Parts: sequence; structure tokens; C-alpha cells
Amino acid sequence: MSGVTIAPLHPSLGAEVTGIDLSKPVDEPMRQTLTRALADHLALVFHDQSLTPAQYLSAASAFGPPMEQHYSQHNMPDFPLIGLIWHRNGQQPAEQWHTDHTNRERPPAATILYGVEIPSAGGGTSVANMREAYARLPEDERRRLESLTTFNALDGHADTREEDRAKYDRPIEHPMVRTHPVHGSRAVYFHISKATHIAGMTPEASKLYMRELLDRTIDPAVVYHHRWRKGDVLIIDNRATMHRAHGDYDRSENRVLWRIIVEGDRPRLV
Ligand SMILES: [Fe+2]
Repeated sequence: MSGVTIAPLHPSLGAEVTGIDLSKPVDEPMRQTLTRALADHLALVFHDQSLTPAQYLSAASAFGPPMEQHYSQHNMPDFPLIGLIWHRNGQQPAEQWHTDHTNRERPPAATILYGVEIPSAGGGTSVANMREAYARLPEDERRRLESLTTFNALDGHADTREEDRAKYDRPIEHPMVRTHPVHGSRAVYFHISKATHIAGMTPEASKLYMRELLDRTIDPAVVYHHRWRKGDVLIIDNRATMHRAHGDYDRSENRVLWRIIVEGDRPRLV
């Protein structure tokens, strides 16, 4: 581990990791260090990486086995475990706060993004510390949230393939507060557009409550904003954060991120 440093980027979350070339194999002591760092800091940034798709998949595997992404029309043809985030193939930047793939029984532990082409201004990614958001709630609301669950499904992009709907569009129930399997702490957990409803509430009341909760709990004190540089790798801990993209960039420029998600546990509250 010689030469590796982990330096916080924001008072609430995020850390920059230096001294690692992710194109080289990650050994077991380093894997453990990075796993712990992700659980503690919730977002890890590695600058100046230069990765082939195969090297990128290998590095991502240090955080868990890469898993299939359900909008398979956007996956890299030769490396289908890598999704392409690129507005020119019809995608809109995901500007709403969310955590990924909650329609899966075991949603991804982490989402990993690699900056391949970066616009000259804007197009950042923000990550919110939902562990701290949970801790800041009044006690009676924490207790209420702990009793609630969401039902989740695909959130209906028009170009979703039938095979993806068949595999991934079944109702999946998750707690709205989950315990982090490595860190042991609790965090607010839901995806406002993949959650069809909260158990026992109408879809309308559910959305209203989730919207209001996001507005109330996410503020700059718990948000790390990542300004992309080409060659950055950003690793987001999905178990205790939400994230969003920013569409404030010139669409005549390219913004290309390669995305890998890695397997996680079934969310549970303990
Ligand atoms: Fe996302």
C-alpha cells in the first residue's frame, strides 16, 4: 500500500484516492482498504486513470462482481457489463436524486463511473450523504421511516427492451431505511421514480412524501459535487447515498461516462 493516500474532499463525504493505477491488478490488502474507504467516505475519486474496458471491469471487480444493467440498449456491445452514459444515444441526464437499480432484489452496492469524454463546462455528478440525512431527521420521523417500505419497478423509459422488462420489471420491496453491511450505520434509501408506492400509501401520497423528504434532507452540507476531468473514476456507495447528474452542459459537446454497477446485498434494516 505504499504511496496510497485517502484525503477527504468535503466535510460530509467524498475522498480522493491517490497513488493507485487502476489499470494494474488490485491486491487483497488494497481491496480491503478501498472497501473500507468506500463505506467510510461513500464516494471515492481517482484522477488521471487510463483504462481499457477490460482493465476497467477488472478494477471495478475489487468492489464486487459487475452486474447486468437493465437498460441494455445502452450497454457497450463488446463489453455488455459496461453501460454508456451519453446523451447522443437518446438518454437524458438523470437529474433527479436517486440510488441505482432499486427494482433489483439485490441492488448494486456501488456505481462506478469513468470519465471518457468531458464537456468543457458543467455536466458534473452530485452525491448526497443519506447516512447523514437520516441522522439529521427528528427522532419521531426516523422511527416512522424505519417502519416504511417501498415497492420498486422499472421507471418506464420508452426505449426499454422487452427482454429487460421481462427480467427486471417485477415489484421488489425495500426498506426506506437500510443498515450498511460494512459500516453498520443507517441511511435513508429509496428511488423516487422507481418506487411505485410506499406500502399502505397511495402512489400520489407516496411521491409527495418522498419529494418532500428529498427537498428537506438534501442540502449542500451533505452533498459532494464532482466536477469531471477526463480520466476520473468516481465510485459511489449506493447503500448510503443518492446521486444525480447535472444537465447544465453544451449538448454540442460530448459527455461520455462508462458505468459499471457491482453486486450488493439485499437491503435490510437491523
Ligand atoms: Fe444513477
